[in-house]
Amino acid sequence: MDSNDKWAALRGAAQMPPADPDSDLSSPDPEAYTNKREIPQPQPLERHGPARVIAMANQKGGVGKTTTTINLGAALAEYGRKVLMVDFDPQGALSVGFGTNPHTLDLTVYNLLMQDDVDIDDVMVKTNVAGLRLLPANIDLSAAEIQLVNEVAREQTLARVLRPVIPDFDYILIDCQPSLGLLTINALTAAHSVLVPLECEFFSLRGVALLLDTVDKVRERLNYDLELDGILATMYDSRTTHSRQVLQRVVEAFGDKVFSTVITRTVRFPETTVAGEPITTWAPASSGARAYRQLARELIAATDK
Ligand SMILES: Nc1ncnc2c1ncn2[C@@H]1O[C@H](COP(=O)(O)OP(=O)(O)OP(=O)(O)O)[C@@H](O)[C@H]1O
Ligand SMILES: [Mg+2]
Repeated sequence: MDSNDKWAALRGAAQMPPADPDSDLSSPDPEAYTNKREIPQPQPLERHGPARVIAMANQKGGVGKTTTTINLGAALAEYGRKVLMVDFDPQGALSVGFGTNPHTLDLTVYNLLMQDDVDIDDVMVKTNVAGLRLLPANIDLSAAEIQLVNEVAREQTLARVLRPVIPDFDYILIDCQPSLGLLTINALTAAHSVLVPLECEFFSLRGVALLLDTVDKVRERLNYDLELDGILATMYDSRTTHSRQVLQRVVEAFGDKVFSTVITRTVRFPETTVAGEPITTWAPASSGARAYRQLARELIAATDK
């Protein structure tokens, strides 16, 4: 299949009829429904870069984009990868997730996008996790969406400002806002690939068809090599048949594009936001921390150079 057919098949899959009602949904273990894969232990890196740039995108709100950026970023860093997280949502939830007060920041990703004299090194901040850095954002970024409209190559602005640090990192994770506007188009244009967190809820699949349409347009017009890293099932509730049904349906629709790792719904995630640190350091032995480490291993296995 050439890549055009591949995308058409994926978009078609998102509109498929419901799953077989007689299928076996007896196991509460989510991985009974996803793809079984051998996930090797990551090898230490001898040198770093160039970075794989991944956009965490889904225009539906509250599906786990920010939580995935924080915890996947922290887990990749635990495996010795150098990671830069880009807060690309004017809500600044990613920045808050690391205990920064977005209102007191002098320089944010907004300044980097809009002012030619701002250096990316001056905007980047360290986190409490070694090897994990952050480009913070706050509400200023909402103005960029409007101001960028008048710029030359407005869709390529983020790609342009990230270019100088690509050699320094192994992964750059962009936390998108819940919309398909110009900021998200910038993220998709800067990215090598997209990771789609998908809540295990009935209506989530419909939204993915629209997202994949947008991804497809960006791929045709702006970023020919853009790939889909995968769909990550989130907010899985092992007690409900509903969650199992949705998960099974997602795997039917997207096949091996679904990560075998599934993120279960647990109050530990909202708690970590209050704590201002990733679950991997706040509750290192929790099932949530283990799940994001496994996701990191899956991603490394699929993308290591
Ligand atoms: N697996 C989970 N179990 C329970 N709660 C979760 C889980 N993942 C995320 N949450 C919580 O759900 C809320 C939304 O998650 P998050 O902010 O990561 O989603 P988002 O897609 O980034 O949202 P937005 O579209 O608003 O940016 C947060 O309060 C978060 O703590
Ligand atoms: Mg978010």
